Amino acid sequence: MTVQHFLTLDDLAISTLENLIDRAVELKSLTRRGAIFEPLKNKSLAMIFSKSSTRTRVSFEVGMRQLGGGTLNLSPNDTQIGRGEPIEDTSRVISSMVDGIMIRTDSHSMVQKLAEYSSVPVINGLTDDFHPCQLLADMQTLKELRGSIHGAKVAWIGDGNNVCNSFMNAARLFNFDLHIATPAGYEPKERIAKLNAGHFQISNDPKVAAEKADVVVTDTWASMGQEAEKEVRLAAFDGFCVDSSLMGLARKDALFMHCLPAYRGMEVSETVIEGKQSAVFLEAENRLHAQKALLEHLLA
Ligand code: CP
Ligand code: NVA
Repeated sequence: MTVQHFLTLDDLAISTLENLIDRAVELKSLTRRGAIFEPLKNKSLAMIFSKSSTRTRVSFEVGMRQLGGGTLNLSPNDTQIGRGEPIEDTSRVISSMVDGIMIRTDSHSMVQKLAEYSSVPVINGLTDDFHPCQLLADMQTLKELRGSIHGAKVAWIGDGNNVCNSFMNAARLFNFDLHIATPAGYEPKERIAKLNAGHFQISNDPKVAAEKADVVVTDTWASMGQEAEKEVRLAAFDGFCVDSSLMGLARKDALFMHCLPAYRGMEVSETVIEGKQSAVFLEAENRLHAQKALLEHLLA
């Protein structure tokens, strides 16, 4: 039997993704009511983090616990991964003992290899290319706040990075109108853009993207692993801060979204992120509920 992984949104059919989002809303309400629901009793999720994390770490840890299971925190430095054990071997060994593996690392192809050799589901907790768990939570957030996302104008203003790539995948699957604005040279990778051709528009003008948008999204200008480029990036992204004047071009009731962590005064102004249009803390909380729905689907 083939194992169901979640490395990008494309690993699941749109009907399954939509069911997961509905289920996330249900699980959220169950949790709020204090109901005990433990379909993953005695199940284990190995979590491999070779990059920092607050939301992903806490949401998977708490999510597994609430579903009756447990997690193992594995850092490459404390395991033989850091000493060069082949990922093919690591994958077969870990997956022989646990029920699922969540990994956050730089190389997406390494995660694909991990999945290829794994006998249990592998979940992408962020790579340099994609962040599909974030999009599950974001689609849940939009559903809760706005109902259907179908046909909405979503503006991505900033770096053409991993989260932007997952937004492109989401635009194709969930059928919304994505307008990306990046500085020249910071557009999404061509290979990933090609996969989503016809499902987004791109320019180097944040105002064009923001104009009459229903949702304005941004992310850090220097992702994990790009710290050395920070100064150059700060200069390149001048004019791309989502501030009140840029938000003012969007629809009056437009939402502001950001996966967090956010850098105030850089990609977003204090006023916008703390303003009443900001959905950032709901997005963060929904990581828990959306991933519980995902864990239930993949592991139960
Ligand atoms: N949004 C997100 O993935 O946050 P963390 O890096 O804190 O996990
Ligand atoms: N683009 C960011 C997202 C962090 C959740 C990064 O990769 O660092």
